[in-house]
Amino acid sequence: MEQVIGSYVTLKRAGSNFNGLCPFHSEKTPSFTVFPNTQSFYCFGCSAGGDVISFIMRAEHLDYVAAVELLAARAGIEIPKDGKAPAEGEVSRQRVFDMNRAAASFFHQCLMDPAIGGDAMRYLSEQRRLSRATIRHFGLGFAPPSFGMLTDHMKRLGYTEQELITGFLCGKSQKTGRAYDYFRNRVMFPIIDTAGRVIAFGGRVMDDSKPKYLNSSDTPAFKKSRNLFALNFARTHCEEFMILCEGYMDVIALHAAGFENAVATLGTAITAEQARIFAKYTKKVIISYDSDEAGQRAASRAMQMLGEVGIDVRVLQMSGAKDPDEYIKTYGADRFRRLLGQSRTGFRYKLDGILAKYDITQPEGRIAASGECCQLISEFYSGVEREVYIGQVSELLNISTDVLGHRVEQLLKKRVREAKEAESRRAQADIRGVGDRINPDTVKNVRASAAESVVLGLLMIYDEYRNAVATGKVVLREEDFFTAFGRRAFATIMELQATPGGYSPSLLGQTFSPDEMGRLQQMERQRRSLTHNGPEVFRQSVDTLKEEKARSDGQKSEDVISDITSILARKGQKQTDKPTGGK
Ligand code: GTP
Ligand code: MN
Repeated sequence: MEQVIGSYVTLKRAGSNFNGLCPFHSEKTPSFTVFPNTQSFYCFGCSAGGDVISFIMRAEHLDYVAAVELLAARAGIEIPKDGKAPAEGEVSRQRVFDMNRAAASFFHQCLMDPAIGGDAMRYLSEQRRLSRATIRHFGLGFAPPSFGMLTDHMKRLGYTEQELITGFLCGKSQKTGRAYDYFRNRVMFPIIDTAGRVIAFGGRVMDDSKPKYLNSSDTPAFKKSRNLFALNFARTHCEEFMILCEGYMDVIALHAAGFENAVATLGTAITAEQARIFAKYTKKVIISYDSDEAGQRAASRAMQMLGEVGIDVRVLQMSGAKDPDEYIKTYGADRFRRLLGQSRTGFRYKLDGILAKYDITQPEGRIAASGECCQLISEFYSGVEREVYIGQVSELLNISTDVLGHRVEQLLKKRVREAKEAESRRAQADIRGVGDRINPDTVKNVRASAAESVVLGLLMIYDEYRNAVATGKVVLREEDFFTAFGRRAFATIMELQATPGGYSPSLLGQTFSPDEMGRLQQMERQRRSLTHNGPEVFRQSVDTLKEEKARSDGQKSEDVISDITSILARKGQKQTDKPTGGK
């Protein structure tokens, strides 16, 4: 458990448990906990929880079966394939990889064919000045301006329209429901993962029309938030540092100029997951975003995300060009290398931003600037860093380190206090079940919800109990469950029980989200950890459910009766008001 999770999260031992920064939401203080005793994890910040399989499901964005396969593969265990074809409408990851590879080679051949891709080739080589070698290296391509060329080609290779639509190579016509080429008249950038699989495409127009880029949406094989463009190349050039850019074209230009450690996000702002990918490959990242305001704002965010995973972040300052691609074209690779050398730390970058806002030759300016500087310094967790920065600001603003240090200390205390308060509010909410997104009904009746967990936990473990319910030996119906989640879980378990293959935990994964699976597994685990799971426990919990149900039904009928009484009372009033209306 802790080994598997430890390969995603840096875990520190805390008593018999382990703590770390939650991989599922962005945080600075560790609220993610691994409990080796119960083989489970829980995040007190975002309430993600479950066992090692639900962890992998979330971390790798896999369904239950794929997560089990991945774990087995890592442990070197071969699990027998039951030969089960993917369900209707489902396309396996491997199938998507295969069709993407076929499509990438189709696009590439189109680009290389002067009759089809002549204009695209001229665009890439003349306007964007890419060499043939670079075009080949990145497997660039061209999607012809036709509605069916790719579709027809892929069908000939044996892919169905449904598969092509699922894989995001085809769109689906609203009118006829038929598939048509999704990418048309665009130069194509295949996105390749570190295992060398084509996982998606970006397609750019060759003029100023909109949208400039079209990207594949998430597919079974691809999550934007979990991949980086050109990481397949950069991963072997990143010991020293990596360069993070905004655009595919920036990355390509940088690689062509010898900076093979450049990567880009896939058309979205950097995510916490991507930040962790960086942390896995390198210690230092130089952010090299566009020089416009949007680019600088995005840089701020990236700085924070990368800082949170412990990366030494630098920001490159570029003038005379809008982005790295243009910069290299205008000034050459050596000048860019110099810029890399001059890149500033996150602190210096922000400090310069503050200083630029004020006139520090004036007392008012110095006071205002010092306030903001202290605020900035107080955000650093390491005392050493704070001390160094206080020294720097002290010199710049000519204010003593004592005064600055005192102010930073105050701000720091305030920050810690606020964090603690927020934490305890969250904990309170958790206790009351207010923060329970998965099963919000639990708060309304704690006794019923507890009984429900027991019943569901037992049903998930013991075939006897499922049988007893299926055969009517124990009368238990969907309506007897108090929460909507409980009713759904019960119905699903019993439906599976009725199928020829019978119930199996892995089948639940097709119906429930990773969060919900985590909750179900929690119920199951709780039962497994107890030795008293005999029929009397089952009966008692079923009885409790029914009691609570009867009580709330009783309440409801009381409510209805009182509603009726009051309606009648009002009617009576009306009748006295308007006696002529009566019969
Ligand atoms: P050039 O303009 O050719 O230099 O492209 P670029 O790759 O430098 O793009 P730009 O800096 O404009 O945008 C950065 C990244 O944002 C692109 O590489 C895309 O991933 C994404 N992007 C830009 N425009 C769009 C758009 O219209 N739609 C989508 N989905 N993504 C876009
Ligand atoms: Mn650009």
